[in-house]
Amino acid sequence: MGFSFFSSPKRLVGLDIGSGAIKLVQLERVGKGYQLKKFGVKPLDSELIVDGTVMDAGRVIDIIKELVEEQDLQSKEVAFAVSGHSVIVKKIQLPVMSEEELEESIKWEAEQYIPFDINDVNIDFNILESSDPEEASDQMDVLLVAVKREKLSEYTTIVMEAGLQPVIVDVDAFTLENMFAINYDIKQGEVVALVDIGASVMNINIIKGGLFAFTRDISIGGNRYSETIQREFNLSFEDAEMAKRGEKIEGVDQEALLNIIDLLNEKIASEVIRSFDYFKTTSSNDEIGRILISGGCSKVLNLVSHLSEKLNVPVESTNPFRNIEVSDTAFDPIYIEEMAPLATVGVGLALRAVGDR
Ligand SMILES: Nc1ncnc2c1ncn2[C@@H]1O[C@H](COP(=O)(O)OP(=O)(O)OP(=O)(O)O)[C@@H](O)[C@H]1O
Ligand SMILES: [Mg+2]
Repeated sequence: MGFSFFSSPKRLVGLDIGSGAIKLVQLERVGKGYQLKKFGVKPLDSELIVDGTVMDAGRVIDIIKELVEEQDLQSKEVAFAVSGHSVIVKKIQLPVMSEEELEESIKWEAEQYIPFDINDVNIDFNILESSDPEEASDQMDVLLVAVKREKLSEYTTIVMEAGLQPVIVDVDAFTLENMFAINYDIKQGEVVALVDIGASVMNINIIKGGLFAFTRDISIGGNRYSETIQREFNLSFEDAEMAKRGEKIEGVDQEALLNIIDLLNEKIASEVIRSFDYFKTTSSNDEIGRILISGGCSKVLNLVSHLSEKLNVPVESTNPFRNIEVSDTAFDPIYIEEMAPLATVGVGLALRAVGDR
């Protein structure tokens, strides 16, 4: 919630620095809705960012610069996000206190929940609205997020060296919530799982009636498919990528390829099931009503159908532009449709404005 009676707050450029591709999204407020102003995607070679660690900062910076130039980006203020090992998210219970009081004490409260030295992390928190407002309690739920300083400074430096100004740092999984909120109807009490599967990380974010309920990052994604295909058929990584996307590559037996894809689809399904089961144990057995899947890896052959079969819950591909006006003279509709699954985090970031939290 936020008010601004004079001018609308300045919206940031969303910069999603993924390990498989860098995505840039800029939105503009029009009336009560949004319009897509800029959108660009640049694939990254798989060795530039490995497991969330930037191996070749120079190349990553150059690619961001290219993206900025290609898009003729005027505004330099960006929101970016982090995810994976260096981010710890915990839902904790604390005695009811004001935001200001919590601000004072969060470091001490957080210490016991963070597996890193408290001085090596930046901490932020959100007091969660109770999903059951009837319930009177002297306790409140707090979402605690800690990010390793090292990681923050690594990414901040990259963004700045690319000539941009980082204003907000978010967490991949939470950006999905913002993206969801503007594009989909939120039914009271409905439990929705947002699952984004990128090149190296799968972010799961479960929301109940529009409010945060559970999140987990799992180290699996599209690279796992490409690496397995590469090994199995003795290909270059690039050829393995193309084979994964359904292109005919010499020396690749189609039946064997489909078997590999099926096995990895199964692996992803079992990871999702494991997380959902864990969520249920923490939430008095809430049933997940639907799954919105996104990320480039969600385009893998049969993954969506495999998930809906195994999980017995409707699974649909996420369209982050569902409620965003996209001019089909400014943007090629086929490209937008193709790239939409990769744009969820970028759209979530582009919804952030200076000064909001
Ligand atoms: N048509 C397609 N079929 C199969 N896989 C695809 C397709 N298009 C993209 N991918 C895969 O999607 C992945 C990139 O997706 P995405 O941009 O969502 O990841 P990322 O955000 O860069 O990665 P992460 O969030 O894990 O760091 C790559 O593994 C790529 O091979
Ligand atoms: Mg991603």
